Amino acid sequence: GNWKMNGRQANNEALLSALKPAVAGFDTIDVAVCPPFPYLSQTASQLADSNITFGAQNLSAQQDGAYTGEVSSGMLVDLKVRWVLVGHSERRSLYGETDEIVAAKTQVALDAGLIPCIGETLEERKTGDTEVVLARQLDAVLPVIERHPASAFVLAYEPVWAIGTGLTATPEQAQAVHAFLRDRLASSGYAAAPSVRILYGGSVKAANAPELFSQPDVDGGLVGGASLVANEFVGIAKAAVDSLGA
Ligand code: 13P
Repeated sequence: GNWKMNGRQANNEALLSALKPAVAGFDTIDVAVCPPFPYLSQTASQLADSNITFGAQNLSAQQDGAYTGEVSSGMLVDLKVRWVLVGHSERRSLYGETDEIVAAKTQVALDAGLIPCIGETLEERKTGDTEVVLARQLDAVLPVIERHPASAFVLAYEPVWAIGTGLTATPEQAQAVHAFLRDRLASSGYAAAPSVRILYGGSVKAANAPELFSQPDVDGGLVGGASLVANEFVGIAKAAVDSLGA
């Protein structure tokens, strides 16, 4: 669950309190929440006795130093953060993160033992350059990730037109793109390509999750809006257990 810039202490606490017992038995999948930086500490203590793990939404490509407003990998490690979102489309489009920055952040995360969830963005399906954009974004991080086992990172495919719009890629569209990404990993010589987890993001809901997760190359979801609603997020996690947890 990517909470983005939403929530305050009180609702975060209520949300986590509702999620903890509801997903307590979901041991065959990874359930994670990514709160805003100021709430990581609160999340860490609230989830200390839970199977829910947590991540950050961003990290600096630098270590310590004169980088006002940035948060380093070492700080995230201090807070027992497990995952970190890198290259989300909102970081790319609103904060100018280039493929080079995404690759640098991926490297820093891997070096720190954090598991980067690397966003691949499809800007325009209509123009027909889907594969060109995705290939460019994937190729930028390939030299960084290919030296690591498949368990060290996660890929996320999020078509921009599906993020926060209520429009979801059809299961067939998601499957086609995920297969493309996996094939490209394999053809570039990454032997563990079949084990790489590729998440779909973009208006995932409890209602559409079962169909999406039943696609062979869809290995889970990166959920925005629905991760702020306990019942929805639990429903999505349940769909993951049913389709993927076997
Ligand atoms: P929505 O689920 O709100 O469409 O957001 C998707 C997303 O960007 C998750 O990172």
